Amino acid sequence: MSRSAAPKAARDRAAPKAARARARQLHDQLHHHGYRYYVLDDPEIGDDDYDALLDELRALEADHPRLVTPDSPTQRIGGEPVSSLTKVTHEIPMLSLANARSAPELRAWVARMRSHLDREGIGDPDFEFVAEPKIDGLAISLLYVDGMLVRGATRGNGEVGEDVTHNLRTMPTIPLRIAGAPKVLEVRGEVYMSLSDFAGLNERRAEAGLSTFMNPRNAAAGTVRQLDPRLAKQRPLSMWCYGIGRVDGVRFSSHWEGLQWLREHGLRVNADVKLLHSEDEVVAQCEAWQQRRGALDFEIDGVVVKVSDLELQRRLGTVGRDPRWAIAWKFPPTTKVTTLRDIMWNVGKFGDLHPFAVLEPVHVGGVTVKLATLHNEEDLARKDIRPGDEVIVLRAGDVIPQVLSPAPHAVERSDRSSPPSPPERCPSCDTPTVKPAEGVFTKCPNRLCQGRQWQLLKHFVSRGAMDIDGLGEKQVAVLAHHGLVRTAADFYRLTAEQLTELEGYGEISATRTVQSIAASRERPFGRLLFAIGLEEVGSVTGRNLAERFRTIDALLAAGAEEIEQTSGVGPKMAGRIREQLADEGMRELVADLRAVGVRMALEGPPPGEGPLAGTTFVLTGALPTFSREEATERIGAAGGRVTSSVSKKTDYLVAGDSPGTKLEKAERLGVTVLDEAGLLELLGG
Ligand code: IVH
Repeated sequence: MSRSAAPKAARDRAAPKAARARARQLHDQLHHHGYRYYVLDDPEIGDDDYDALLDELRALEADHPRLVTPDSPTQRIGGEPVSSLTKVTHEIPMLSLANARSAPELRAWVARMRSHLDREGIGDPDFEFVAEPKIDGLAISLLYVDGMLVRGATRGNGEVGEDVTHNLRTMPTIPLRIAGAPKVLEVRGEVYMSLSDFAGLNERRAEAGLSTFMNPRNAAAGTVRQLDPRLAKQRPLSMWCYGIGRVDGVRFSSHWEGLQWLREHGLRVNADVKLLHSEDEVVAQCEAWQQRRGALDFEIDGVVVKVSDLELQRRLGTVGRDPRWAIAWKFPPTTKVTTLRDIMWNVGKFGDLHPFAVLEPVHVGGVTVKLATLHNEEDLARKDIRPGDEVIVLRAGDVIPQVLSPAPHAVERSDRSSPPSPPERCPSCDTPTVKPAEGVFTKCPNRLCQGRQWQLLKHFVSRGAMDIDGLGEKQVAVLAHHGLVRTAADFYRLTAEQLTELEGYGEISATRTVQSIAASRERPFGRLLFAIGLEEVGSVTGRNLAERFRTIDALLAAGAEEIEQTSGVGPKMAGRIREQLADEGMRELVADLRAVGVRMALEGPPPGEGPLAGTTFVLTGALPTFSREEATERIGAAGGRVTSSVSKKTDYLVAGDSPGTKLEKAERLGVTVLDEAGLLELLGG
């Protein structure tokens, strides 16, 4: 409600003391929980509880309009539209960055700084560097006066930007007030849209018949420059802060210190920002980010490396618009536009048909991409892409390339081909396909379909399943093609002699492969249940079923009601598991695997027994030698239990590298923290 709409009498009446006190309390609580959620990514309360607090404040403010202050958490709805964007002059220019594209270029940058300082007679300092993700969004300046957000502006040309306060105020990641702030504080950072938010937004727009955005950066930039804040409010923007511009009233000696201060005062600073002490560390960090890039939910196009010491920054100065004290390590771009040649279909291990794109080859994210996934037919329909369209292809990090959407102008063409639909016959075995009432996939109903069998075999040997070293997609294809392997049990009957006759195997690799196949007989029972390919049984459910039934015979004899007693299994799923286990083909496979000596029972003591019985563990961070699955299995085999979040009931937190907030919580609650060595000791070495 706008203030002028409130009845005059109500506006003029001062709010009673109790209402004012409650409003203040609600402000504080909402600020606190917003901070936990948006800045620390560690909420203390659920969304519903947060909304209840906000509703209470809204009601209170409706009754007492005088309680509405500009920093009230209710004031994120955005005010009236503005008629144009006013120009803003940046008192301290917003700089840009020079680029480095390789380790030698990065080292050359450090050498340039050293020689500059040498010429200035400053000697040869030990640099401390701060490495930050280079977020692909748009640079923003936030001005706080006496702790209140008074202005938000775009970078513009670095000297003059535009006032976009009305839109920035709608963003939950931007605090409207900073407690304990100095007189004047200008915070700088990047406004962006996360990949998941971007996908959701484009989906909604496509459904509404609106044009889609080319990439998250365009979507973010377009949104920030809207005149009507109600529009911005509907578009999910976030911000990472990476610097301080003007500041009166506090002094920092380093950039690192400034970032910590920002984070402590409620501004969102990326948790992976690192303080580094040598060029080697910087190069390693940049390469690590490049690897991790595809795993992030936001686009980064590089790493920004800054000299931390502010006095050194001042001495180094700028060349043109680029500071000497900072550099952007740029990654190769990850999205490109290319032509979609065709849409084809692949059959999955449960007969589900998956569409994929055949593309005009395009160089993106450092590799040439010719094929890209299109997920499933619903997704395909939503994206509304047709052969002949120009499409946007995304390839980042290790992830499979995917088609994001048609290029913006593609959908406007009048000569587009008709929308694609799933094939009427299985592309592998030609059986007529069916579309079940439930689920998003059209299916090949033929259990013996070769395409399906091949996928099942690939799954069986894969990492989380039986994890057979030396057998991957290619090798499985060759073995299946030569008729050496028809079902998973056939792997265990292979001999080194048979393998040496095949292309790609020497004596040593053949022997090694046979050995690793043999070793996989001993994989934990839960992994086997995952590996044999039961629909809906992932690795966690596989492990839970193993824990509950302990032997394959007990599981095969169980009815749906018993299966439903397994943690994480609902009635529908229990029925589906039961049905698949009763299938003749599945019974044969199990018998055959038993015959070749694969482990079919859980090792270790029954529940409630074993050295770690009744003990609850939580794992966090990367352990030096154990994978998470291995640690979980070992703890389970000793009678312990692994859960996902730390509470008062947790007995041990096992912490590896980059442990995150679970470690803080464990320390707060007084939970014993172990490293891998400590865990091994508990397990008895
Ligand atoms: S610092 C040193 N830090 O990159 C002053 N910029 O190419 C320059 N950017 O306009 C800004 N992440 O839009 C800085 N962690 C980060 C950044 C970052 C993204 C953008 C920003 C800037 C552009 C410069």
